[in-house]
Amino acid sequence: MIETEALTPSPQGLARAAEILRAAGLVAFPTETVYGLGGDARSDLAVARIFEAKARPRFNPLIVHLPDLDAAREFAVVDARAEAVAQAFWPGPLTLVLPLRAGAGLSPYVTAELGSVAIRVPAHPVAQALLREFGGPLAAPSANPSGRISPTRAEHVLAGLSGRVAAVVDGGPCAVGVESTILGLVGAPALLRAGGVTSEALEALLGPLPIGGDASKPNAPGQLASHYAPEASLRLNATPDGASVFIGFGYGASDLNLSPRGDLVEAAANLFHLLREADALAKPGQGIAIAPIPETGLGRAINDRLRRAAAPRP
Ligand code: TXA
Ligand code: MG
Repeated sequence: MIETEALTPSPQGLARAAEILRAAGLVAFPTETVYGLGGDARSDLAVARIFEAKARPRFNPLIVHLPDLDAAREFAVVDARAEAVAQAFWPGPLTLVLPLRAGAGLSPYVTAELGSVAIRVPAHPVAQALLREFGGPLAAPSANPSGRISPTRAEHVLAGLSGRVAAVVDGGPCAVGVESTILGLVGAPALLRAGGVTSEALEALLGPLPIGGDASKPNAPGQLASHYAPEASLRLNATPDGASVFIGFGYGASDLNLSPRGDLVEAAANLFHLLREADALAKPGQGIAIAPIPETGLGRAINDRLRRAAAPRP
């Protein structure tokens, strides 16, 4: 166990965070989607520490975070199609899986030796400032123990990983609240994970997108059946039954509400925090029930996370 340092996003805080990262230590930092558990993507030691801190069951590939498209060209082959998507959505909650540029210096643990690499250019000003201060690629999965609810506040990171990460930079609550959309661009475009950029927005640029994830053959923790799980059991598409802690969406009686005005953007931003709050409210043996969420726009990412959170536990 180490004592986790709580850092502010001041110049001094970011300088300290970069110093830890240069020594192959881990720093959790805010992005607009969720908090990431960052380590130097060129360092086998740092990347191994990420897997150890999260207790990830195996070496799933990680997303490499970079400050801009030019930095992405150093590590991946960016063709005209990838360039058009990047121009439209970066910086932002979109990850592109691209052909890996061999010999660019990434740890093989980051890419799981797939020959491709997942790259994200986050928009959050603290993530941007940290990437520029550090000056290299940051591998960063969500900063939570494997299988549990992703963190959207610095206190969520501490609740799950205190003593397992050298520092947390507190940038306040995450505005988007669900992880990035993952778009595969090795071969034909494929949607590998629903997320902060809606499939409608991507399809407006790329045409109809096949869903590329295969839940029976997971190459991604987000594709495992049980993931994002609260302690209490979770029932979906529910109405209030008086027995469960009820999370509503839109107008109506509820213990907690994702968005009283029925706004999917607000609901995504509140999702992981309210799942934690419901867990804290649930008495031993009591379950959580949640209202139906429309399967449109950010609702797709919300429902994807909820289905996994409700899936049978291993
Ligand atoms: O919003 C996010 O994406 C957050 C923040 C911190 O940036 N990060 C995140 O990372 O959600 P993580 O590790 O929870 O999810 C990474 C996903 C995994 O599902 C993994 O399989 C996929 O990215 N991935 C990484 N490299 C890949 C590759 N070469 N091919 C296919 N999928 C890949
Ligand atoms: Mg995750």
